[in-house]
Amino acid sequence: MTRKFFVCGNWKMNGSKKSIGELIQTLNTAKLDPNVEVVCAAPAIYLELTRSELDPKFSVAAQNCYIVPSGGFTGEISPAMIKDCGVNWVILGHSERRHVFGESDELIGQKTAHALENGLGVIACIGEKLDEREGGITEKVVFAQTKVIADNVKDWSKVVLAYEPVWAIGTGKTASPQQAQEVHDKLREWLKTNVSEAVANSVRIIYGGSVTGGTCKELASQKDVDGFLVGGASLKPEFIDIINAKA
Ligand code: PGA
Repeated sequence: MTRKFFVCGNWKMNGSKKSIGELIQTLNTAKLDPNVEVVCAAPAIYLELTRSELDPKFSVAAQNCYIVPSGGFTGEISPAMIKDCGVNWVILGHSERRHVFGESDELIGQKTAHALENGLGVIACIGEKLDEREGGITEKVVFAQTKVIADNVKDWSKVVLAYEPVWAIGTGKTASPQQAQEVHDKLREWLKTNVSEAVANSVRIIYGGSVTGGTCKELASQKDVDGFLVGGASLKPEFIDIINAKA
């Protein structure tokens, strides 16, 4: 079973029309490994601009969405609106949504179900905090987060699981290739036991947390690391090296 390498740049709340335009030009003209699926997660207000300027060979993702198609939910956007802008993916459960905005597992589960029902692919994020790792409960935490996602998924071909240890996000502290591989392997075991062997073998499990041009190659060489979710480095030309990590 070959799993296509998947690299998503998470631009978070960064950029302007000008800088995003420049980034898109860099991507459109770069020499990239054709065996990699590349996705750019733009701020909501720039989704349409990104979709119209980015080469169609790339996908675009929203960074969040709500659980109903429309209505009195000031400030939110729905999967229907995301699709209407020609965008096919959404990141859900990112640690910044969980820990800065207080999103619960239950809400992330509901978002996952609604996004999938409305035809979006979902990059579903999970990951332990530093005290949880130090307390030896990494597995317990990521399994519990994965269960809530799994309970809301019917079609796993539309889901990418992103393991992002919270202590590694935006901190410059990348998990070691061994630490990432260990958790990815455990997650695949969990999927085998709790979903199916076919899903365990086919679902892409990507790593996120301070991935750089310098750390990407060794991480990418790990058996169960099927790509990356990249924050800071996705705004720099270095993102090209990360896409090409396996080339
Ligand atoms: P980082 O962010 O690469 O800047 O650590 C990763 C993420 O939050 O998805």
